[in-house]
Amino acid sequence: MRPIARELSSVLLSAAKNFPAVVLTGPRRAGKTTLLRRAFPEASYQLFEAPDVVARFRADPQGFLSSLRLPAILDEIQNVPEVFAYVRSRIDEHPRRTGRWFLTGSQEAGLMRNVTESMAGRAAVLQLLPISARESDKVTLLRGGYPEVLARPRASALWFASYLQTYLERDVRSITAVQDLSTFRRFLTLVATRHGQILNKTDLAAPIGVSVPTVSRWLDILEATGQILLVPPFLDNLGKRLVKSPRLYVADSGLACHLLGIESASELARSPFRGALFEGLVASEIVKAQLHHGKRRELYYFRDQSGLEVDFAMPLGSGRTRWIEVKATQTPRPGMADPMRRLLADSGKRKGRRQNHELLVVHEESRTAPETTALAPGVEALDWRRFARERLG
Ligand SMILES: Nc1ncnc2c1ncn2[C@@H]1O[C@H](COP(=O)(O)OP(=O)(O)OP(=O)(O)O)[C@@H](O)[C@H]1O
Ligand SMILES: [Mg+2]
Repeated sequence: MRPIARELSSVLLSAAKNFPAVVLTGPRRAGKTTLLRRAFPEASYQLFEAPDVVARFRADPQGFLSSLRLPAILDEIQNVPEVFAYVRSRIDEHPRRTGRWFLTGSQEAGLMRNVTESMAGRAAVLQLLPISARESDKVTLLRGGYPEVLARPRASALWFASYLQTYLERDVRSITAVQDLSTFRRFLTLVATRHGQILNKTDLAAPIGVSVPTVSRWLDILEATGQILLVPPFLDNLGKRLVKSPRLYVADSGLACHLLGIESASELARSPFRGALFEGLVASEIVKAQLHHGKRRELYYFRDQSGLEVDFAMPLGSGRTRWIEVKATQTPRPGMADPMRRLLADSGKRKGRRQNHELLVVHEESRTAPETTALAPGVEALDWRRFARERLG
């Protein structure tokens, strides 16, 4: 497969102009190594995976770093977490020299602790997620965005199975003592069946017979390693926020389908999870676009005590908010905009600032429907690909 251009690369280049170091995190197999090597072809490359490299570094860390030609990419640094302290002292010798250290690896939780402890102010921290629909048309609800799945969609079931295995056995176990991997595996499947729901830890703990603190720890790992997406409730000044728990999504829709046993487009079309899966796809496209532009992740859902719900809210800056209803249909209807219009009618009374809102219904693609339509006064409908391409720029 021809390399897919990554949106993060321009952010990466500008971070390299402004910071001595750049730390790139993200889920396994998202394309971190590929991106760094392509973005900085002149940099030397050290992979802390081969035992001899790790041993050489451990034997003489200062000597090892002195021997490197800068700029240098240091990969799989979770295997040598002490490297941060040494890189920091190098940076402090020449604090103004930028773009000299590129650090990447897996297991974000541990990685991030080291970054915040030793690299504050010295490193830009960027996150790479799998391929977005903005980056490739091959991204679909069924397959998700992992580059290797896009390259060989027919082999996706096998790929996901081995991804889970590697991820479970290598990463999860090295982060925490998950004694019983088969229980963790069942937990993952259970999480997938809760895709799109408001997180209820008790409800995740009971069926597999583990404690709520254990579930919390497992969810933390899944979130830190980019496997799940937790979307918090919108905190607005309507004073109506009631629900405090986030909504839970499996971050990659392909992995979600795999965990749910959905292997073909026809199974997907019949699945009771289709609506939730599609909602999760839109959520992950929004988050990918934000992170791949080097921005903070900012996505919320709305639900008030009267049961009024709007799928997503995205702050657009300058007090503007985009409200999104996601509908797994090719035929958007005006009624689909009702919750958003009701919400704004309520808030409009109080604030009189309706112009500060953008209302969208994001739906499935259709070959026959017009690309965007005015669905109701002030409400636009557009399909998810077009939404990703044109509204998440
Ligand atoms: N932009 C891209 N276009 C096409 N294929 C890609 C792209 N980026 C990565 N890949 C492919 O995806 C796979 C994973 O990429 P890579 O090793 O860079 O990911 P990674 O995030 O470093 O993974 P790991 O966490 O295992 O180190 C490789 O097979 C690579 O060839
Ligand atoms: Mg890598």
